[in-house]
Amino acid sequence: MPGDRIVLLALETTCDETGAAVLEGPRPPAVGVPAIRSSVIASQFDLHERFGGVVPEIASRAHVRQILPVIDEALRRAGVTLDDLGAVAVATRPGLVGALVVGLTAAKALALALDLPLIAVDHLEGHLYACQLAHPARTVYPCVGLVVSGGHTSLYACRGPIDAEVLGGTTDDAAGEAFDKVAGLLGLGYPGGPEIERAARGGNPSSHAFPRSYLRDDRLAFSFSGLKTAVLYALRGQDARTTGGPVPPGVVADVAASFQEAVVDVLVAKTRQALARTGMRRLGVGGGVAANARFRERIAAMADEAGVELFIPPLSLCTDNAAMAGIALAKLAAGQVADLDIDVTPGLVRPSR
Ligand code: KG4
Ligand code: ZN
Repeated sequence: MPGDRIVLLALETTCDETGAAVLEGPRPPAVGVPAIRSSVIASQFDLHERFGGVVPEIASRAHVRQILPVIDEALRRAGVTLDDLGAVAVATRPGLVGALVVGLTAAKALALALDLPLIAVDHLEGHLYACQLAHPARTVYPCVGLVVSGGHTSLYACRGPIDAEVLGGTTDDAAGEAFDKVAGLLGLGYPGGPEIERAARGGNPSSHAFPRSYLRDDRLAFSFSGLKTAVLYALRGQDARTTGGPVPPGVVADVAASFQEAVVDVLVAKTRQALARTGMRRLGVGGGVAANARFRERIAAMADEAGVELFIPPLSLCTDNAAMAGIALAKLAAGQVADLDIDVTPGLVRPSR
């Protein structure tokens, strides 16, 4: 490895994906977008599917089993050994506490044993940085950032990769969480987003007039719990205590399409408001829901109409992955190295604070 380059091992265990990635970039203090040499993800979908959501204890145990094989595989695919590494990064917030601890412990052990700098990254900043990784030759920042995932639905004013100000977020469920819960109501599988997207293809998006919270409101806020309840009532009548039998396929398609359209309407409208309020001319989008084709089409049309440059990663960089922790090189360049006694921060914190 030339002296002006650095190899980074990045780990991701915030929720239900065990990820490790190897990236190579300019050695700090030089700043530049690293290239992804490998990115490995061990998914836990099959372990959580029958529960219709992530079970934290099961997630932690699966991370413990998978983290070392996943690291080995990422190194192997990148064609490097532990001796080639120049730094170790790990997402330490936000996420499930037991899941986060597994990644952080592995990262600390490697940093200590190999005498490498340890860099703690914010998972949400990472989701937005995926836009930069996907477009290394273009300038993403400053931008409005929208993170739409299973745990978060938030808008940011990002002055740089590690300098983001929260503009607003959800007051209850996250958009992805709503997809997962509505999929459960429709008898579809987990995770619900891709299942609803598939079911919606044959449905009529105008068949059900589902609520669009805060649509005509100045606040940059989201709410999806009322929408979820409206779906429940549409399926089971006003007495939602009835268990309800299987939903006929035509109804599944219409409800899925109408629900998806309601979520997309709100995401697009609030993002347009954030762009207008900040005057920013670039938009970065990240998180699992950004993999949704209808959302991608509508957000691209809005950006086009507003004359804003849109950055949206390919699907593999939208959902959870370790490569996005490559934001660590920007932190390393800014001198932000973590002490070996740092802890995880499960709750939502303001990025970069
Ligand atoms: O970013 P992510 O992988 O994990 C979190 O940080 O939460 O996002 C997962 C979420 C899940 O709720 C999943 O249902 C949703 O992203 N998702 C989708 C699609 N693919 C994944 N939602 C809508 N359409 C999709 N195609
Ligand atoms: Zn995520």
